[in-house]
Amino acid sequence: MKLEDAKNILNDIGQEHVLGFLDELDESAKESLLDQILETDFSVLGRLDEENSGERGAFAPLAAMQCSEIESRRGELYEAGINAIRSGKTAALLLAGGMGTRLGFDHPKGMYNVGITRPLYIFECLINNLLDVVKESETWIRLFIMTSEKNHDDTVSFFKEKDYFGYKADMVSFFKQKMAPCCDFDGKLYMEAKDRISTSPNGNAGWYSSMIRAGLDKILADEGVEWIDVFAVDNVLQRICDPCFVGATVLADVSVGAKVVRKAAPDEKVGVICTEDGRPSIVEYYELSQEMMDAKDENGDPAYNYGVILNYLFKTSELSKVTDDKMPLHVVRKKIPYITESGEPVKPTEPNGFKFEQLVLDMIHQLSTCLPYEVVRENEFAPIKNLTGIDSVDSARELLKKNGVEL
Ligand code: UTP
Repeated sequence: MKLEDAKNILNDIGQEHVLGFLDELDESAKESLLDQILETDFSVLGRLDEENSGERGAFAPLAAMQCSEIESRRGELYEAGINAIRSGKTAALLLAGGMGTRLGFDHPKGMYNVGITRPLYIFECLINNLLDVVKESETWIRLFIMTSEKNHDDTVSFFKEKDYFGYKADMVSFFKQKMAPCCDFDGKLYMEAKDRISTSPNGNAGWYSSMIRAGLDKILADEGVEWIDVFAVDNVLQRICDPCFVGATVLADVSVGAKVVRKAAPDEKVGVICTEDGRPSIVEYYELSQEMMDAKDENGDPAYNYGVILNYLFKTSELSKVTDDKMPLHVVRKKIPYITESGEPVKPTEPNGFKFEQLVLDMIHQLSTCLPYEVVRENEFAPIKNLTGIDSVDSARELLKKNGVEL
């Protein structure tokens, strides 16, 4: 029955080769391949023509709450934020489902050791940062960690082995994000093994629907969590659920707060927060026109001056407005390991096909209001994307040292 269903699905989409090794597989491998076929959403394959099709609306500047205002209102913002944290209205969610291919590390990126004279893992840096707030507020904050099928087991065992770096184990919940199939430039599915279609994590916007799929939204509802701070694995300096950011977002009563940094140069390669057709949005650096780069606000400062750092505080009651089918699908050229028709493994050195992703920044555009909240780059932005150079282990180590973290 399963075999018939799988054959029908593959015939409909012209991908019969997926069963090409069936006769060589033992019963359990057969079963696992058939299950994968039945569970996979192949509709993305029909959207290859969406590569580069990102039609955009009319952009306009969106003012940020700047450091000067944050300083002058610090007491008020802190009070509102710490109250929200103490009353259990705030949770944190770590996006750790990415492949981290640029770092070229064989384990989940969070397991990377940035220490020099002692071990200090990326996950540990993030937990330490969150523990600062836990201690200050004397309140455990719920932490959700999104992994993918590729790195889930490694991630969970690492946390267990390290005793959650001092975090309270029953306040941490792991869940897996969905995967999307990968194909060559003609739309033909790649196989990563004889019993497995090549897949990759479906992008970091998948966090909310994957959280629902795992039944974890129930915790949010049962415990009255109103705000969830969603953050990336790679920024080892970021403050998570910090009271002033929480307070500013709560008091502004917006759908989402977004941490931003002042751009280092008009053409810096960061996504810039703005509005698009009246809704909050993020414009990628390569979409910024010269006119937008030159535009000034009423104080004579650049009007598109704040880059996002992938740390957002979402109002949970607004999340139902954000559905996967409303968000654009990013069709991205990547290097995809695969096996040939004769079963030989290939590790390409150049992009050889497409992956499909939905991005958290597109969630922002589904919401009606956003507060960009300025943080000081040197204190809160040390992303690790590469081993050396810009946004690397080297640059992050320098910044950690400058911020007094012993390495
Ligand atoms: P990146 O854009 O850096 O992607 O993710 P990546 O896949 O981790 O790294 P490269 O491009 O292969 O080098 C930004 C954040 O979003 C998470 C990542 O783990 C990181 O925290 N992410 C990304 C997911 O959780 N799921 C995804 O499918 C993609």
